Amino acid sequence: DGDVYKYYSDGDWKKSSSGKTVAIVNPTTRKTQYKVQACTQEEVNKVMESAKSAQKAWAKTPLWKRAELLHKAAAILKEHKAPIAQCLIKEIAKPAKDSVTEVVRSGDLISYTAEEGVRILGEGKFLVSDSFPGNDRTKYCLTSKIPLGVVLAIPPFNYPVNLAVSKIGPALIAGNSLVLKPPTQGAVSCLHMVHCFHLAGFPKGLISCVTGKGSEIGDFLTMHPGVNCISFTGGDTGIAISKKAGMIPLQMELGGKDACIVLEDADLDLVAANIIKGGFSYSGQRCTAIKVVLVMESVADALVEKVKARVAKLRVGPPENDCDITPVVTESSANFIEGLVLDAKEKGATFCQQYKREGNLIWPLLLDNVRPDMRIAWEEPFGPILPLIRINSVEEGIYHCNASNFGLQGCVFTKDINKAVLISDAMETGTVQINSAPARGPDHFPFQGLKESGIGSQGITNSINMMTKVKTTVINLP
Ligand code: G3H
Repeated sequence: DGDVYKYYSDGDWKKSSSGKTVAIVNPTTRKTQYKVQACTQEEVNKVMESAKSAQKAWAKTPLWKRAELLHKAAAILKEHKAPIAQCLIKEIAKPAKDSVTEVVRSGDLISYTAEEGVRILGEGKFLVSDSFPGNDRTKYCLTSKIPLGVVLAIPPFNYPVNLAVSKIGPALIAGNSLVLKPPTQGAVSCLHMVHCFHLAGFPKGLISCVTGKGSEIGDFLTMHPGVNCISFTGGDTGIAISKKAGMIPLQMELGGKDACIVLEDADLDLVAANIIKGGFSYSGQRCTAIKVVLVMESVADALVEKVKARVAKLRVGPPENDCDITPVVTESSANFIEGLVLDAKEKGATFCQQYKREGNLIWPLLLDNVRPDMRIAWEEPFGPILPLIRINSVEEGIYHCNASNFGLQGCVFTKDINKAVLISDAMETGTVQINSAPARGPDHFPFQGLKESGIGSQGITNSINMMTKVKTTVINLP
């Protein structure tokens, strides 16, 4: 009935005093795979206390030593790639190869963060006063970056390991302590990853991982007075968190409706390959997935044919077999996706494949001739369903992209680089990719959403900076 896992607090693995657990249902078998502790608010308080005291000592630990420990954790994580990937397969039905890639990418991310951290945090600034009117050179100002305190990290189900370490690494190198609240699906993968930090020998309490029900500890964690920064990736919950959180820095990434604008001169084979990768990898369950194709009418038929041919080659089935399309994360997610499909059907979209679903497994589907009155034109399915809207001008494409509440990424395909840059400038998204599908990585690139897609900018460098404050000391000369 599922292995039961302990939570991690004060350097120890513990059972919750609640005596309750939360079940993690395998998306493929739809049976309970694992159970994690349903932690109580009292246990959260304890975690916060030890995070606070561990942080004080950690901030005084030399930067090179913090980096050394992170490098160690990265190496251990990579050594554990097989068992962690196994958890990802069972908890979130990520295809086998992608599951391994997620862990390896996470190890690389931690190492890069350690290297970047020693450079960024190893430098400060020196200012003199006589550049500002009315001042003599009687004040010297020294700046350095100091930690914020306790960082609360809340990653989403789709990258439970990678989007956890993209918060943990920057927080720790900058001298913060870290409290991790994993998503339910992905919690065991997170616990395994945290175990690697445990093995690396980080001080007690510096990193902890509390599992449990959002209804019991969700608000309690995000509104906890001991939290000095929240880094969240996920859905609408982020909007609610931003309204409830105190006066602390927030880093949020809340999804997208990334548009793919295809011009008449585009290399259609390249576009089709990127639509498959961008729209259907991990069954469309990526915030940076292509979520609407906006193609010029004159090349639309040709593009649809090319995409159809490639969709036909996608392997649909269980993640263990490394299929391209695997079951979506929960039954409710599958039901939501189905609702969007039925709405599009009712309103007359052209189905390029037959709609097919077995349990949480939904076959890839391209919907042609989608119109703005269909929900799928605007909503984020987080599944293998891709709408295509035919446009008669580039302006029409830009208009649709900018009419979205989201503004994460977008992409434009054309051989005319000047046009592409102008379109990029006109698109209200945090990033525009020219001639490739949207993507967060490489992980040191800035990553940010406009509008409802988020607050702040991520990527290794920006996250390290965001998790620090500037401290100045002014020497006043006689
Ligand atoms: O789901 C949101 C992730 O930040 C997307 O990352 O572009 O590497 O798939 P990715």
